[in-house]
Amino acid sequence: MKDLFDKIYKDKGPLGKWASVAEGYFVFPKLEGPISNRMRFQGKEVITWSVNDYLGLANRSEIREVDAQAAANYGSAYPMGARMMSGHTELHEQLQNECAAFVQKEAAYLLNFGYQGIMSTIDALVGKDDIIVYDVDTHACIIDGVRLHMGKRFTYKHNDMESIEKNLERATKMAEQTGGGILVISEGVFGMRGEQGKLKEIVALKEKYNFRLLVDDAHGFGTLGATGAGAGEEQGVQDQIDVYFATFAKSMASTGAFIAGDQEIIDYLKYNLRSQMFAKSLQMQLVVGALKRLDMLRSMPELREKLWKNVNALQGGLKERGFDIGTTQSCVTPVYLKGSVPEAMALVKDLRENHGVFCSIVVYPVIPKGLILLRMIPTASHTLTDVEETLAAFEAIRDRLDNGTYKRLSAAVAAQFE
Ligand SMILES: Cc1ncc(COP(=O)(O)O)c(C=O)c1O
Repeated sequence: MKDLFDKIYKDKGPLGKWASVAEGYFVFPKLEGPISNRMRFQGKEVITWSVNDYLGLANRSEIREVDAQAAANYGSAYPMGARMMSGHTELHEQLQNECAAFVQKEAAYLLNFGYQGIMSTIDALVGKDDIIVYDVDTHACIIDGVRLHMGKRFTYKHNDMESIEKNLERATKMAEQTGGGILVISEGVFGMRGEQGKLKEIVALKEKYNFRLLVDDAHGFGTLGATGAGAGEEQGVQDQIDVYFATFAKSMASTGAFIAGDQEIIDYLKYNLRSQMFAKSLQMQLVVGALKRLDMLRSMPELREKLWKNVNALQGGLKERGFDIGTTQSCVTPVYLKGSVPEAMALVKDLRENHGVFCSIVVYPVIPKGLILLRMIPTASHTLTDVEETLAAFEAIRDRLDNGTYKRLSAAVAAQFE
């Protein structure tokens, strides 16, 4: 009989196999200093393009003061216990009401972490007779939520309306047999490529098919729409999203999340979200901090304006210089280049060491083999100087990628993995 750990000793997995050359630098890097447009990496200042602090709130003095005061008032223990038992407070309720109003829904419920929260939301919404139809490119937390489902599920090709219809037809036939209903899941903004989910087209299908729609708007919340209510507001269909999800981990620069929808649906979820019912309540420090952040989202539209000024400067500048930024429709700014994983490593090293530009690198198996994705997140704390310096750096690295410099530099690394 095999030892359970045999497979671990033999195979570290598609990403884990790079650990010996990548850890501490390409993965698990340590960015130091206050969260801002420029931080320190291995002792050097770098322009930071990999932090989802969209509105630049993380290090604002008003926020830091409220966070510090809340920590002084409540410590990190308060309140103790799960919401249902002993961890419920007026301020939790107030934050829920304010989140609901902000995203134009009747009610909201707080989640300790978005990841577990959305998994439990999916788990609570479907029973074994129900069918899930979801976009193949959705975030890991949705895929894990779908894994909990005991019934049938279908994926549709990313943002492909023909494919979603085909799967809705299948799901409808199946639901007629099982006597269940259909849950469709999309993201508001897909975090890797930056495309918005085709929410307008999806809700139009409600005329033809009977389903409910869950939208994970982690990247749209606070960044899209006239009031920052997200991708649904941007596309004019917020009222057609049956269950809306957003995290506090991006534009709110904090921890925690919420779901929002009709009062009766939220009341049901409140009593059926296992990851919330059987886990400690969101810490008061985070609740108080989130109230302050939400107030700033509401009252300071200039933060969103500044964000978009930077997004447009960066995306426009990259396009003018002939870079392929794909089909982004959000702040998420991908740059696609052609090259191997070792070449990508040499390129990113050059960007960080010689140009002071820090961005995340995404390679196979997250994207197809032979492609390198440099993913940048512009924020309201960036400046146009940051953008100009970065554009110049990108021109330099493209030349070196084209003339084979990175291939030569990475030959030793590549040989290790052949
Ligand atoms: C699309 C998406 N959904 C959900 C989550 C998980 O949220 P949290 O960080 O609050 O667990 C993330 C990551 O933050 C995300 O990018």
